[in-house]
Amino acid sequence: MKRTKVIDILKSTEFGKDVCVKGWVRTHRSSKAVDFIALNDGSTINNVQLVCDADKFDAELLKQITTGACLCATGKLVESQGKGQTSEIQCENIEIYGLCGADYPMQKKGQTFEYMRQYAHLRLRTNTFGAIMRIRHNMAMAIHTFFHNKGYFYFHTPLITASDCEGAGQMFQVTTKNLYNLKKDENGQIMYDDDFFGKQTSLTVSGQLEGELGATALGGIYTFGPTFRAENSNTPRHLAEFWMIEPEIAFMDLDELMDLEEEFIKYCVQWALDNCKDDLEFLNKMIDKGLLERLQGVVNTEFVRLPYTKGIEILQEAIKGGKKFDYPCNWGDDLASEHERYLVEEHFKKPVIMTNYPKEIKAFYMKIDAEKPVCMGKEMEETVQGTDVLFPQIGEIIGGSVREESYDKLMGEIERRNIPMKDMAWYLDTRKYGSCPHAGFGLGFERLILFVTGMQNIRDVIPFPRTPNNAEF
Ligand code: 4AD
Ligand code: MG
Repeated sequence: MKRTKVIDILKSTEFGKDVCVKGWVRTHRSSKAVDFIALNDGSTINNVQLVCDADKFDAELLKQITTGACLCATGKLVESQGKGQTSEIQCENIEIYGLCGADYPMQKKGQTFEYMRQYAHLRLRTNTFGAIMRIRHNMAMAIHTFFHNKGYFYFHTPLITASDCEGAGQMFQVTTKNLYNLKKDENGQIMYDDDFFGKQTSLTVSGQLEGELGATALGGIYTFGPTFRAENSNTPRHLAEFWMIEPEIAFMDLDELMDLEEEFIKYCVQWALDNCKDDLEFLNKMIDKGLLERLQGVVNTEFVRLPYTKGIEILQEAIKGGKKFDYPCNWGDDLASEHERYLVEEHFKKPVIMTNYPKEIKAFYMKIDAEKPVCMGKEMEETVQGTDVLFPQIGEIIGGSVREESYDKLMGEIERRNIPMKDMAWYLDTRKYGSCPHAGFGLGFERLILFVTGMQNIRDVIPFPRTPNNAEF
């Protein structure tokens, strides 16, 4: 008989119909006359209940069915007697596909996320990780739909690259090694062949520079792919391999960029509220009681737009009022997460788009502001049209900017920062031939998923996290 997914079984009211379901056992309760097996196939957070009358089944077979076992069950769809579910299956036959021993690491409830990280290959079968993975999928659908509806094209930028977009030197080098023809040097050490591309290459830290080539040809593009950063920061917000979404749009100015950032995040959150109801309700109940309210709040709130200089003034006022920070926050300092948290969580109590940062703390490609800012009565150094979107609980979720379109100004920055020119000629051609105003941003996919799921650690919103000292699975 053809298999029906649990999600469809639970919606069906065709009582009396013969059905077949396949999945993994979540729980098995036995009484004298009847056994109840909760089966889940990953299509939904909810389980279908199999009701097995003891007189119809071999007691030995039933005994073997423990949490984690994989079954094929057939029977009649019936109206449920229990609370909270409309239908269940009056089971007639069970075929065991795979037994699951008592040493199955995922069977106990209430295991910590740290514990589960050791079993990244099996934690996917738990309710929480099932919910997170379905939400991840739905967010990817939201992202493609959002940009597609705007007429921006999905543009594929290379993962292997010779340029360091952010100029932060956090790149994983690419080397090649012919396993079947290992060359050794005179000391017997294996020689790596760095000459495959004829130059040193790395895994990309951002698709932006190539994205700009797309935007200045197609008008508007977005990338959505893996991104790699060898930053040795063991925090709940950083991964060595994460996914980034980077739209890049010709003829966009700073205000339009901020509008797009805000609209985009709200669209994704609303999509989750509309399409991931069961999973979000589960997470709201089990993980974070304030989740649904927070998600709804973001959709209904206007984000604050705050120039960096004004932000520094607010922080300095707070210090005068007795607020203590561990790190300084004078004009020119890169804000620490404690400062961002103060602004977002205590001062404004809503998402903040911070803009017009000092040039020195931002990347070379950002457009330089026409005027220098005045901070507490004094004129400061040059600023750029960069934006960071700061979120409660998460911190920076988006980084973006208007790009410097003047060939001379961009060249000036590249020289001042000693960025090797030989690697940048193709990029400079965007400014040399038909240069146009343009802007874009990068959203960290996992940071969005953190916000939408209410999870605390970025290692728990990606199937197989890559962090310092962890590349298993
Ligand atoms: O602020 P970032 O470094 O900006 C860029 O890479 C630009 N080139 C983007 C652009 O304008 N096209 O990174 C963008 C976002 C951050 O705001 C953060 O959400 C995420 O990427 N991110 C990380 N997420 C997880 N782990 C890491 N190590 C991350 N580093 C950045
Ligand atoms: Mg950033």
